[in-house]
Amino acid sequence: MPDASLSELDPFVTDALALIEGLSTLDAAREAEATLIGRRSPLARWQRSLGSLDPEERRSAGALLQEARRTLESALEARVRALGASERLTRMESDALDLGDVVPSGVLWTLADGRAGLVARTQRELEDVFVSMGFRVADGPEVESDWYNFEALNMPPAHPARGMWDTFYIELGEPETVVLRTHTSPTQIHLLEEAVANDSLPIHSVMPGRCYRRDTPDARHLATFHQVEGLVVDRGITFADLAGTIDTFTRAYFGPDISSRLRPAYFPFTEPSAEFEITCTICRGEGCRTCSQTGWIELGGCGMLDPAVFEAVGVDADEWSGFAFGFGIDRCAQMRHQIADMRSLIENDVRFLRQV
Ligand code: DAH
Repeated sequence: MPDASLSELDPFVTDALALIEGLSTLDAAREAEATLIGRRSPLARWQRSLGSLDPEERRSAGALLQEARRTLESALEARVRALGASERLTRMESDALDLGDVVPSGVLWTLADGRAGLVARTQRELEDVFVSMGFRVADGPEVESDWYNFEALNMPPAHPARGMWDTFYIELGEPETVVLRTHTSPTQIHLLEEAVANDSLPIHSVMPGRCYRRDTPDARHLATFHQVEGLVVDRGITFADLAGTIDTFTRAYFGPDISSRLRPAYFPFTEPSAEFEITCTICRGEGCRTCSQTGWIELGGCGMLDPAVFEAVGVDADEWSGFAFGFGIDRCAQMRHQIADMRSLIENDVRFLRQV
């Protein structure tokens, strides 16, 4: 580089500083950086030509170029910082939420409002029906000892009826002594024990809650599901009270054209025991694929309390008698809302959730 060329350095720096001052966006600043101090800039070109100078001139010209580069770099840096701050401010301003803003009524429907899921709502509706019939609502633990889940319900260890419930065991204490409850029936035992301890019989209670079984989920089963248990213990309770209660509940919850019937069954904790069925809500009793052409759908189990259960908790079976029932809350939701696949209840697909 002939020495004379460096005389262009000062005007170049002056123009460059003016250009940097006038930059209005970060993108433009990035471009300016390339043209002013990048590999193809005049600065770089001058730098490359230093080699042709003699050592003395090279040193002084190099120092001048170095200084010019530093001046431009720090001017660019300052400009970028200022532009960044103002762009951030603009973004914050445009993102700002106006809490005093009024949403025009026409667009309100696009704002999805949160609400309870279908199972929770069904549970509440069922509770309402039973409360209106004179029941109280009670609660019980989801983790139970083997004694509550099985033994006190007249299923000693190795009783074959335990096979009716595929059980999740929890690793606590002795092996296979703590379980995730497979049904809400153990809550009967808690209520009976409490009533004995407080000398507070009779009992008229329903106990809704979550249950767990080692089932593979399919259209009619979930591994985590919900039941509502019913327990009535009083003087002179008969099977007719049980049948009347089931039928009253069925009509109140499903509607007057849906009725119930009982069929003999076996449960270790009731004697006699029955399964109860309701008119198929899909075909209204005509017969369809869902109900295997029978017109009836099974909802749950029930029966008169077995004296062995009274004995386990110390209730005098000569003075007291009672009935119990238990059925699936998820199944009720499925029947009432005609949900083809029960897995929809837990998949959180908004297209499903919006409908129910
Ligand atoms: N616990 C039973 C089950 O999950 C259902 C049941 C049957 C509950 C008979 C009862 C009853 O209270 O009396 O399969």
